[in-house]
Amino acid sequence: MKKLVILTGAGMSAESGVSTFRDAGGLWENHRIEDVATPEGFRKNPNLVLRFYNERRKQLLTVKPNPGHLGLVELEKNFEVQIITQNVDNLHEQAGSSHVLHLHGELMKSRSTGMGAEIYDIYPDKIELKSGDKCPKGYQLRPHIVWFGESVPEFEKAVKIAEQADIFVIIGTSMLVYPAAGLVNYVPTGIPIYLIDPNDVSVYAKNVTLIKKGASEGMEELKRYIL
Ligand code: OAD
Repeated sequence: MKKLVILTGAGMSAESGVSTFRDAGGLWENHRIEDVATPEGFRKNPNLVLRFYNERRKQLLTVKPNPGHLGLVELEKNFEVQIITQNVDNLHEQAGSSHVLHLHGELMKSRSTGMGAEIYDIYPDKIELKSGDKCPKGYQLRPHIVWFGESVPEFEKAVKIAEQADIFVIIGTSMLVYPAAGLVNYVPTGIPIYLIDPNDVSVYAKNVTLIKKGASEGMEELKRYIL
């Protein structure tokens, strides 16, 4: 089976009711990245950062995968589908996708601030600065999110996946955040690239077919191209 590699961003989940970051009304309009998405922000005001992600997590419990997510699951009948997502929600997993790599962490997981940086499921749904929210070794838990200025531990895996693509599809990302946006440079020359986004997004690659639609409608059009 051909390998279909999909890179997704916040726009993938927009039709499920999850806010994107940089669109009008997006998350970065009301929150400063430095305050809520950097290690410095967490050191300065951990309560604010924990509250920000606790709210995101609470919202995630109320939303469902959209037809775009479900379309990617259907494509597993015809392709070996590997999803590389910048999203910290779990909507690809909820939809039933089998292979999902999270580049920027996962909202439903916490990570120890100790040396081991062990990862735990979050139960029930929030992290707070109190004794119950420390890891078994006694260190404070933090959200399992890759913040700006931190390394992206899964990037090497993502590069290997991109290098093996027979078809590469980009859905709902502004392609402004690196290293994720640079993955397109690892796609072998000559491989078809499809970009689904209702707005203009610049991708410096050859062979790109633009599908200027939202994720759900765009998925239908993608199927017409590749099936
Ligand atoms: P952005 O908010 O930068 O971009 C969202 C993209 O989704 C834009 O190109 C929109 O045009 C598009 N979009 C909007 N509605 C859509 C729809 N219905 N269907 C498809 N696309 C739609 O989000 P990302 O590119 O994901 O990282 O941002 C990348 C990273 O920056 C995020 O992972 C996050 C953020 O800061 C961290 O927080 C570490």
